[in-house]
Amino acid sequence: MEARRKADELGVDAEFIQMDALKLPCLDRQLDSVVDCGLFHVLSDADRRAYVAGLAHVTKSNGKLFLMCFSDQEPEGPGPRRISQNEIRDAFADGWTVESITPSHFEPNPESKDTFVDGGPKAWFAVIRRES
Ligand SMILES: C[S@@+](CC[C@H](N)C(=O)[O-])C[C@H]1O[C@@H](n2cnc3c(N)ncnc32)[C@H](O)[C@@H]1O
Repeated sequence: MEARRKADELGVDAEFIQMDALKLPCLDRQLDSVVDCGLFHVLSDADRRAYVAGLAHVTKSNGKLFLMCFSDQEPEGPGPRRISQNEIRDAFADGWTVESITPSHFEPNPESKDTFVDGGPKAWFAVIRRES
């Protein structure tokens, strides 16, 4: 798995769990940190609500979600739905504190490197803390 390879290369102690992200409550765990790279922006509105509820279930009090999603600063075109900062804030309005949202870029994969210019598609990188 690419993520495992990158974590090992960087010496990061990370656990990767493969499962349906809409079934997080089935995971009998409480996690310190959760990384979402490119999932949030593929979910429908209904699935997004189920996903955020599931995240609340598996994230410890004061645990953090590190969320990277396509940004509405990226012009319409190929790729997933564009997400505004307000959508992120609305999705995590109850029981979470959005600590920061900063502009970033996704690293384009080899197939889409000519589709997106300026260093890859524009993204938001959000740090979101689960309230106690
Ligand atoms: C835009 S890709 C991002 C892939 C990868 N994280 C990355 O950064 O390159 C979105 C991924 O979410 C996965 N996905 C969609 N719905 C999912 C779900 N309910 N549970 C787990 N993964 C899901 C898709 O299979 C796809 O691999």
